[in-house]
Amino acid sequence: MLYRKPAFADVEAIYDLVNNYAHDGVMLARSRNTLYETLRDMIVAEGNGRILGVGGLHITWDRLAEIRTMAVQPETVRQGIGAEIVKRLIEEARILGVDKVFTLTYKPGFFQTLGFEIITKEELPHKVWKDCIDCPKFPNCDETAMIKTL
Ligand SMILES: CC(C)(COP(=O)(O)OP(=O)(O)OC[C@H]1O[C@@H](n2cnc3c(N)ncnc32)[C@H](O)[C@@H]1OP(=O)(O)O)[C@@H](O)C(=O)NCCC(=O)NCCS
Repeated sequence: MLYRKPAFADVEAIYDLVNNYAHDGVMLARSRNTLYETLRDMIVAEGNGRILGVGGLHITWDRLAEIRTMAVQPETVRQGIGAEIVKRLIEEARILGVDKVFTLTYKPGFFQTLGFEIITKEELPHKVWKDCIDCPKFPNCDETAMIKTL
């Protein structure tokens, strides 16, 4: 398995991976526009020349960043790929001097195994909600907010 930063040629594979899950309602959809704009946030896992997983680290505020766009191909879940992507994103966060990493997730169990704790959404700064106004579910967010102090 190769873990690396994505390139332009990976965008369509990331788009399909994320939006196939979004179609089933298990994660939020991402437009190509968002994927291009946040391409440098992401890490992908590649196996046999195929994108098997993706995740992103998005800086939101002073020493605060979000883990987002976590997705692993259905046939390769539960093999440690998601955990490895999160570990690498957290390493990037440490290098940047991030103190706290949060996530808004439908899979709290996955993030719990990685040391994230559940918090109330009100504990996150208002800035975090800037991206949420484009979400079809806004303002009725049903994701769980979780945070990890580095
Ligand atoms: C959630 C997801 C990214 C996890 O990636 P993954 O590669 O399957 O996870 P890993 O194999 O690295 O699992 C790491 C740990 O989390 C646990 N875990 C993984 N998925 C879990 C889940 N859905 N619920 C509870 N625990 C979970 C595993 O048991 C594992 O712990 P272990 O090492 O003690 O066995 C992946 O399952 C996925 O893409 N799911 C569909 C899309 C999605 O839900 N994305 C997240 C939206 S918020």
